[in-house]
Amino acid sequence: MWPNRRIIDLFKTEFPIVLGPMAGVVDAELVIAAAQGGALGSVPCAMITAEKAREQVNIIRQRVSAPVNMNFFCHTPVEADPACEAGWKARLGEYYKEHGIDPAAPIAAANRAPFDEAMCAVVEELKPEVVSFHFGLPERALLDRVKATGAIVMSSATIVKEAVWLEQNGADVIIAQGAEAGGHRGMFLTENIAEQPGTFALVPQVVDAVKVPVIAAGGIADGRGIAAAFALGASGVQIGTAYLRCPESKVSGPARAALAQADDASTVITNVMTGRPARGVANRAMREIGPISPHAPAFPHAATALGPLKAAAEKLGKVDFTNLWAGQAVGLGREMPAAELTRALADEALARLRALSG
Ligand SMILES: Cc1cc2nc3c(=O)[nH]c(=O)nc-3n(C[C@H](O)[C@H](O)[C@H](O)COP(=O)(O)O)c2cc1C
Repeated sequence: MWPNRRIIDLFKTEFPIVLGPMAGVVDAELVIAAAQGGALGSVPCAMITAEKAREQVNIIRQRVSAPVNMNFFCHTPVEADPACEAGWKARLGEYYKEHGIDPAAPIAAANRAPFDEAMCAVVEELKPEVVSFHFGLPERALLDRVKATGAIVMSSATIVKEAVWLEQNGADVIIAQGAEAGGHRGMFLTENIAEQPGTFALVPQVVDAVKVPVIAAGGIADGRGIAAAFALGASGVQIGTAYLRCPESKVSGPARAALAQADDASTVITNVMTGRPARGVANRAMREIGPISPHAPAFPHAATALGPLKAAAEKLGKVDFTNLWAGQAVGLGREMPAAELTRALADEALARLRALSG
């Protein structure tokens, strides 16, 4: 019934739908629910330790016999630059004062570590069916070890050049991430945000440029979007934003309220929250300091000085300094359990595809 079965056959899932990995807001509970609905669940490992990643996958394995995707960032780490950090903290000084926070008090460094030896050992131990990367691929030796486990390797491309590079360097599946997508841009061969194509332009051009199956991501939040992705030549979809309002997500109450009120014009791409461009619902920090600031420290260090502000504002029920990562289709979000949402997405897509072919 699906126009193209490449992803269903590869992943052995009921539907060609991937619950997008979303660091900080997805844990085992949402992965289990999405898998029960027929999607491939993704465990975001960028902000957790290897031990926690093992624990999460073990919980999932105990509850469902479905394939699992473990997701990692693989950026090249950059040491924090003390001068840049001090300047950034000075820029945030007025907010520290407003919230009564001592700027001299020690703060925990932002925690987004790239895929490393410890995580690779966990992959070798747990053997997830799928491993996905954001920001390219890890170094050859680590990638070879991942591939030796038999895992299907996926990574995000934001332009055709990245898709071709990923295929040439060992990716089995390309996630074509259009500019509409929520969260960090997976860009790694370009830094020009203005050049980033949208999903409608990107997907068919990536499909033409590579032989491996392509998963469309960005702005897909209902059956119409899924049917459109297949019409563009994709073999599957990765959906993040549409799952944020599921009761199983770890989105906080105030952030949930902000997402519920957001519409098509609410999101922007910003670098002020972490140092790397990412799309989210505009908050006070993004509006007043950005959305793009040349002074933001390199990823992930911009997040360090924002940490105490985020905590203080959240205590007041405010999301002024909280990452409200979400894509341009946030307004299509539904408050619905993830298994039910997954089945609804698939049913709607199939109905739409049938209607179009009839
Ligand atoms: C809150 C949030 C966090 C995200 N975190 C990650 C992540 O940790 N790793 C990753 O590869 N992609 C991440 N993404 C991207 C999603 O996996 C997915 O590709 C994207 O959400 C698809 O576009 P959509 O938001 O329009 O559905 C994140 C997206 C959001 C909205």
